[in-house]
Amino acid sequence: MRELLENAAQRAISYLDGLDSRGVAPTPEAVSKLSMLDTSMPVEPDRDETVLKLLDEVCSPATTAMAGPRFFGFVIGGSLPITLAANWLAGAWDQNSAYYNATPATALVELVALRWLIKLFGLPAESAGAFVTGATLSNFSALAAARHGVLQSAGWNIEAEGMFGAPPITVIVGAEVHPSVIKSLGLLGMGRNRLIKVPVDGQGRMRAEALPSMSGPTIVIAQAGNVNTGVFDPFTEICERAHEAGAWVHVDGAFGLWAATTPATAALTQGIAKADSWATDLHKWLNVPYDSGLALVRDADTLRAAMAITAEYLPTTSPFRNPSDYTPELSRRARGVEVWAALRSLGSKGISEMIERNCRQARRFAEGLEAAGYKVLNEVVLNQVLVSFGEPETTNRIIAGIQKEGTSWCGGTVWQGQTAMRISVSSWATTDADVEKSLDAMICVAKEERVK
Ligand SMILES: Cc1ncc(COP(=O)(O)O)c(C=O)c1O
Repeated sequence: MRELLENAAQRAISYLDGLDSRGVAPTPEAVSKLSMLDTSMPVEPDRDETVLKLLDEVCSPATTAMAGPRFFGFVIGGSLPITLAANWLAGAWDQNSAYYNATPATALVELVALRWLIKLFGLPAESAGAFVTGATLSNFSALAAARHGVLQSAGWNIEAEGMFGAPPITVIVGAEVHPSVIKSLGLLGMGRNRLIKVPVDGQGRMRAEALPSMSGPTIVIAQAGNVNTGVFDPFTEICERAHEAGAWVHVDGAFGLWAATTPATAALTQGIAKADSWATDLHKWLNVPYDSGLALVRDADTLRAAMAITAEYLPTTSPFRNPSDYTPELSRRARGVEVWAALRSLGSKGISEMIERNCRQARRFAEGLEAAGYKVLNEVVLNQVLVSFGEPETTNRIIAGIQKEGTSWCGGTVWQGQTAMRISVSSWATTDADVEKSLDAMICVAKEERVK
């Protein structure tokens, strides 16, 4: 076993060492070689070393260098070295972290990480939390608690009675709500189409004055960090209006909640602590390995009521926190271990520096591209930059050219009718030199493509 695991560690280290000097996107040749793995299920066993070698030699070159310093697509963090190391160690522990009694070490580490995060975000100390796979599942979990809360106030026990015959819930979102929230609403039986969409401004912020009047069971979903522009909804006004009517306010803060961790951007999150629940990602800006997110709910009872299960053989009675009393899963890996390691290693100072650095790097991208004559479409308030290179076809051609050239990787988007390239800076590994190198390559490709 030792030899195999050391072999795997060596291969992983070589892979990471090579990220800086390879193209960010895999080559078409590397992708075409993946067909070597597309075979029928083997009947005979094979040597572990052979299996590992095949995986490394065929798959590693066909990966996208998301763990490297110049991947700026979607909103994707890398893995801080300590978080990858903690992930390996926790993998060896193989703890099914559902219950404290069976897995006290990982249950405690998760509890501590949860407390630290609540403090870091400036959220109510009594909040409960769930370590889940990402913001989609954290939105789902927090909205399950919201559904319980608003229906309980209407005298309906949703977990016991289900949605059939339940009082209808009004769900209010901003027009630029993230699609994963809509998916979560569908999964929760609240419908993907039964939404009231509140108009937003030119940057995507919900216009609080346009909120409809509210009555009966109501959930308002606000956003911290629009996936295109990075802007924030006006939480103070939204919470005041919603709470006057007894509504629940949930905030999707997949990456934007991290703005609360540094004085440089904390003002963007003003009023956010007045909400009732929050969702964030840990695999984005905290830079822990995939997949990792966190749901937070002010009223712990509502999250527990939505998530806890009981069965005779399950050791639920415990004076300690049972992780699975708060999550959709029963059997689960302890995602909080890498989170604890990141927080313990960076400290609040290191986190604040990382967030500030990425925001400064995003501003540098905007400045450099504007100076080269291209149009930045958004107010760069956080880590997101939207740039248009001209006509939609030109912009799309340049995005494809940048991806092919390989120095960096950015994706495309359409922002309020305008085709744009989206740059998202959220990796611990990105240095200022990486930004300059990427800018030079982007501008060079853009100039070449524009004359075609
Ligand atoms: C605002 C927002 N909400 C939710 C999500 C979904 O996150 P995940 O892919 O981690 O489930 C994203 C992803 O980019 C996002 O930006």
